[in-house]
Amino acid sequence: MTSTTTTSVTQPPGVRPATPQMLSHVAWVTHDSIATAEFYENVMGMPLVNAFTDPNVPSTGDPYPFLHFFHRMQDGSIVAWFESPGLPAPAPPSDPAYDIFNHLALLVESKEAVEAWVPWLHGHGIDTIGPVDHPGIAYSLYFYDPVNHIRLEVSHPLDPRWNSNEEFAHHAIAEWREMKREAEEAAPGDPREQARLVANMIQEGRARRPGHEGSAPAQ
Ligand SMILES: [Fe+2]
Repeated sequence: MTSTTTTSVTQPPGVRPATPQMLSHVAWVTHDSIATAEFYENVMGMPLVNAFTDPNVPSTGDPYPFLHFFHRMQDGSIVAWFESPGLPAPAPPSDPAYDIFNHLALLVESKEAVEAWVPWLHGHGIDTIGPVDHPGIAYSLYFYDPVNHIRLEVSHPLDPRWNSNEEFAHHAIAEWREMKREAEEAAPGDPREQARLVANMIQEGRARRPGHEGSAPAQ
């Protein structure tokens, strides 16, 4: 094993490195490279732009031979895959919610562009959900990568400030911490009841702020 793990043992420098510029790539394991490359190239329109093999994992030296391949979007960001022979299928999630929440969202140029994906995907035998209007956030269509069961979203932002509400976001996350704390105190050791209480608190919050549905109010 040629693994070299670097561990932080010192105080960090006073200046934080620059914020990352954009998504370089996201990568998952596939068990069918051919079908995956066909789906991303021909259905999603993301060209296959690089691929390589290695008998070992370069970063750790682990002895997993693999093919790694890359599909590019318009801005240069990449959806990438690994296939390594002999890997067993992944364990199913402990709750179906993981297959709903975990997803990859791809930005398109307009609401019409979102809608254009519906007949295209249906024509390729892929079921869709939506388009769903998320007020103040995005107009989104959801479906699954039919080869790898990754939940995908094709999305157009409805408000140019949707990713610039820093103050609102920090308030919302603090409020969330408070809701969780209240629910844990009211129903210790009962996660289902805690979830019900949090759902009630979200509804009460909406009633106090008409038109507010979890996104920053229009200014
Ligand atoms: Fe999303």
